[in-house]
Amino acid sequence: MVARIRSHYLVYFVSTFAAITGLLFGYDTGVISGALLFIRKDFHLTSMMAGVTVSAVLFGAFLGSAVSGKMTDEIGRRKALIIVSFIFIIGTLMTAIAPNNLFLIVGRAVLGMAIGIGSFTAPLYLAEIAPPKIRGFLVSLNQLAITIGIILAYLIDYLFAVHGDWRWMLGFGVVPAVILYVGTFFLPESPRWMVLKGMLSAAEENLKSIRATEDVTRELTEIKQSIQEKRGTWRMLFSKRLRPIMYISLGLAFFQQVTGINTIIYYAPTILQQAGFSEAATAILATLAIGIFNVVFTVIALPLIDRWGRRPLLLMGLIGMFISLAAQSTGFYFPELVYLRWLTVGSMIFYIACFAMSLGPIMWLVISEIFPLQIRGVGISVAVSCCWAFNMLVAMTLLTLIDAVGISGTFWIYAALCVLGALFVYFLVPETKGCSLEQIENNLRAGRAPRELGIGLRKKKLLPELGALEPEVEVATVD
Ligand code: BGC
Repeated sequence: MVARIRSHYLVYFVSTFAAITGLLFGYDTGVISGALLFIRKDFHLTSMMAGVTVSAVLFGAFLGSAVSGKMTDEIGRRKALIIVSFIFIIGTLMTAIAPNNLFLIVGRAVLGMAIGIGSFTAPLYLAEIAPPKIRGFLVSLNQLAITIGIILAYLIDYLFAVHGDWRWMLGFGVVPAVILYVGTFFLPESPRWMVLKGMLSAAEENLKSIRATEDVTRELTEIKQSIQEKRGTWRMLFSKRLRPIMYISLGLAFFQQVTGINTIIYYAPTILQQAGFSEAATAILATLAIGIFNVVFTVIALPLIDRWGRRPLLLMGLIGMFISLAAQSTGFYFPELVYLRWLTVGSMIFYIACFAMSLGPIMWLVISEIFPLQIRGVGISVAVSCCWAFNMLVAMTLLTLIDAVGISGTFWIYAALCVLGALFVYFLVPETKGCSLEQIENNLRAGRAPRELGIGLRKKKLLPELGALEPEVEVATVD
């Protein structure tokens, strides 16, 4: 019984540390929004250079997530996380002491590498180590950690805004990075990776302590079997059979970014200043409120994703995001409007609520669900790097786009992309609610249309099998 309680805590301990990776992802991408107001002044940045400074992190993240599949297979998940936290520390310190903008850009790119590798490794590690029963929940928890990281960043931005201390804003990120670094030394290596490397007896020992039972023979056999299958390659991803999956995941990654979420996350204070909140600190405070709504609506979304399903939430979210962007662009079209700033804050909050309940968590969830096991690592790595590439595209073009077509025109572009996104979801994205991963894979093999990949036997078929592997099932009674 004691051993079971230990196992129960171990999974949560491990999750907490993996979640710190998500928190750093949120912090380091969000912190620039407030810091930028002061960095622009100190380093005399043009719109173009401000865009590059914001996007350097995204470029690094793109590279990091592209190499992460191979890296985590070579050195293991645990060592990859140790390296991630170390790079987080180095990158943060570089940005905090940057003597000029070029140094700052390089530091942000280094930080981005850590975010990119982390955004792939942490969920993978968690999925491999988590009991199947709570795996879905843990994936979405990562998004929650991202939103908490963003809000922490806004809070720190607000606290240091009084004196314009952008170096402290960026430097504060070293605190969670050090906590992650220390924590990673206590993490167990993934037994699945150990089997992959032929360390069978060590894998068995690890699995026994993680599952807190001596009876791991069946799970170990399954791991061995899955590893014996021919491993997936990049080329396979574009085979006729897997193409629909690629379209769905790349499409979701595309629409998650090009519908403009990060124009708010990275640039909200800049936009709010243009809407009439002229004081930097007030603009950052209004941004903080937006961050709070992001966290709150992510929490509300978590249980609804499995109850209402992915598709209804995605469709409702995209329609809501369209309405909010249309309201913002109309507002900016009449700059003399007395209530412009309140209209802007109100519609930004509505937008963030809609995003947090749809594309925010569901993009990450669906890409982790629809790839067949054999190709899951490579598939997720490609989808995640494309997500970072689209993110970079939006961040780099925003300020230049605003200079060219104005804020109003820019928001109309994002609004139009929301409509396209809703059509994409309606015609192509499958409802995977309650459907076992195995069934999704069978549907794919049977050549079903993309939208029908989640049709068929729901999870009951798989559960009796998993139950036997699942020592955590009885944990609730221990408490
Ligand atoms: C997105 C990020 C975004 C964040 C906002 C994530 O799912 O990938 O680009 O900044 O959500 O909460």
